[in-house]
Amino acid sequence: MVDFSKVDSRAEELARSLEQKYLERTRRSRELFEKSKKVLPGGVTYAIRYFKPYPLFISKAEGTRVWDVDGNEYVDYWMGHGTHILGHAPRFVLEAVAEAMKGGTHLGYENPYAVEYSELLTKVVPGLELLRFTNSGTEANMYVARLVRAYTKRKYIIKVEGGWHGGYDILHTAVSPPFVGPESAGLPEEFIRYTIAVPYNDVDSIEEALKKYPAAAVIVEPVLGAGGCIEPLGNYLKELRELTYRYGSLLVFDEVITGFRLAPGGGQEFFNVKADLVVLGKVIGGGFAGAGAFGGRSEIMELLDHLKYPDPRSRPFHGGTFVGNPVNMVAGYTLVKYLHENRSLYENANSLWAEFRRSVDRVCEEFGRICWTTGAGTMTGIHFTRVRPRNVREAYELRLGKHVEHVYHLYSRLNNILYISEKLIHLLPSLTHSKEEIDLFTKTFTSFLADITKG
Ligand SMILES: Cc1ncc(COP(=O)(O)O)c(C=O)c1O
Repeated sequence: MVDFSKVDSRAEELARSLEQKYLERTRRSRELFEKSKKVLPGGVTYAIRYFKPYPLFISKAEGTRVWDVDGNEYVDYWMGHGTHILGHAPRFVLEAVAEAMKGGTHLGYENPYAVEYSELLTKVVPGLELLRFTNSGTEANMYVARLVRAYTKRKYIIKVEGGWHGGYDILHTAVSPPFVGPESAGLPEEFIRYTIAVPYNDVDSIEEALKKYPAAAVIVEPVLGAGGCIEPLGNYLKELRELTYRYGSLLVFDEVITGFRLAPGGGQEFFNVKADLVVLGKVIGGGFAGAGAFGGRSEIMELLDHLKYPDPRSRPFHGGTFVGNPVNMVAGYTLVKYLHENRSLYENANSLWAEFRRSVDRVCEEFGRICWTTGAGTMTGIHFTRVRPRNVREAYELRLGKHVEHVYHLYSRLNNILYISEKLIHLLPSLTHSKEEIDLFTKTFTSFLADITKG
């Protein structure tokens, strides 16, 4: 029987020597961090991009690789927060956008690009009869939350613990431990009064919540993303579908990560379960900023139709300066068309990553079962926990110690592997990562386990 606390303290010891090496090979990142702290709170553009003792500053990306300002090269398993499904900066997308930009970057009027892209999306994403674009996944969730309330005339929204839907007030709860209350300062309790959080992969809790609260919708990521890349077990999603029908609630799939990733048609296609509405982001922008959309059954989406509902108070608002801009539309169209026409990419990548999870699991077993993998398709979580976690609560509460995830992150960086975050190992690789790159990860991980269990 492995002594978990010993493993964790060995990892902590190891961190000291690793940190010294990190300081030596990332001097320019350190200098930039010192400058950055003077102009950005915490020295970062987004707190999740920080890692100890200071983040790497990346100045170049191509394919599956990124380079830091000191010239170190890494295999990237974060891929722009899961955006770059075909790797960084695919040339054919860049060329299409460069061509379109000659005619303007942001037109501010209706344009043919948005129509063409919408038509394509309705073919690729199951049940997407009508849609609207947004500037981010957060925004798409915000509009969906209003829409489901307006449509059902109900106030409650049920989400799952660890479900990340962006920073919009009413969904910004139960994301991280202890999974209660607002996740942010400046967010009054009242704003989340109608948001009910239940554990993921727990059908009984959803049913209890649906019985107790008349819910406009259940919103769920088909595979928990930021909550550790944990996949739905058994018939979880199908049962959610059944229960939401039974209790008159809408089912919303937040497919900001899973969309165009698990399959061209996202989690709906992969798990063969249809939601009423889907939320899209990341990949939908073809690698360019300002990406998001929501849509689904026309009977619900029609509520946004200002011709049918001319009084602005009779319809849920949606809009934004940059929505439907040609850069996003052309990039997204070009990329999604390619994905749609090259479905075999998914079969290959999904089976490579399933094999990766199996081999890492074997290694975990060899070293006394100190870790487990979770995930589906290319989405992959690795957890140093006592049992295989079924939800985010278990992923945090059943950890073997306080240090090992952070130390492995540092270890990876020194072995030219990069991902976010150092709190939770969850990988969002592209469909183009090679077998050799994936094997390098397994090899690095194996040597880490050997280091922290020896003696
Ligand atoms: C499932 C999910 N929904 C929504 C969001 C928010 O998207 P954005 O960061 O584009 O606002 C994210 C971001 O990571 C996400 O993973």
